[in-house]
Amino acid sequence: MFTLIACVGKNNEIGKKGELVFNIKKDMEFFTRTTLSHPVVMGYNTWLSLPKKLKNRKNIVISYEDFAGPDEVITNLDEFIKKHELSDKEYFIIGGGMIYKRFLPHANSIYLTEVDATVPDADVFFPEFDKTAYKRTIIEEGTGGPLKYSIVNYTKKKEVK
Ligand SMILES: NC(=O)c1ccc[n+]([C@@H]2O[C@H](COP(=O)([O-])OP(=O)(O)OC[C@H]3O[C@@H](n4cnc5c(N)ncnc54)[C@H](OP(=O)(O)O)[C@@H]3O)[C@@H](O)[C@H]2O)c1
Repeated sequence: MFTLIACVGKNNEIGKKGELVFNIKKDMEFFTRTTLSHPVVMGYNTWLSLPKKLKNRKNIVISYEDFAGPDEVITNLDEFIKKHELSDKEYFIIGGGMIYKRFLPHANSIYLTEVDATVPDADVFFPEFDKTAYKRTIIEEGTGGPLKYSIVNYTKKKEVK
């Protein structure tokens, strides 16, 4: 199974010039706590933005070309999705924009840290999704410096046939 986790601004902005748009300590702590010991899946650009491998998690990178460094490089994304989408093992999809978009239709759970701020000139965004199709649960609310945030979990409602 796939779970998305991201930190977004009011316009769904997540990145600017290859970096995160927000750096909120409590959000980082939530990210670490939530993903720890689970495999994390990221796109090549997000991999490049990390100072080092995320420890105590299997680092899986999606790229069209194989390279050394991560624990695993996936070049065939469709095959990876097909293989793991229905498994019991939880894979955390940690960005960035391209990768969230590809996994969104295959994820039943999304953790979003919703920051009450906008970032001009952001260049990467979390994909739009139909929030009425998900149950919204607030996990934590707080402030990081001047920034107000809510950590929210969206879980897909069961389809009624
Ligand atoms: N706020 C947040 O929560 C958050 C989280 C993560 C990242 N970010 C930000 O998001 C930005 C990066 O996002 P991004 O959209 O530019 O890039 P990305 O999603 O991290 O990575 C894109 C790369 O993934 C590979 N890729 C994409 N689709 C593929 C496919 N179907 N098959 C094989 N490889 C594929 C390609 O790599 P190759 O070119 O190597 O083939 C592509 O260039 C940064 O600014 C980062 O800081 C924000």
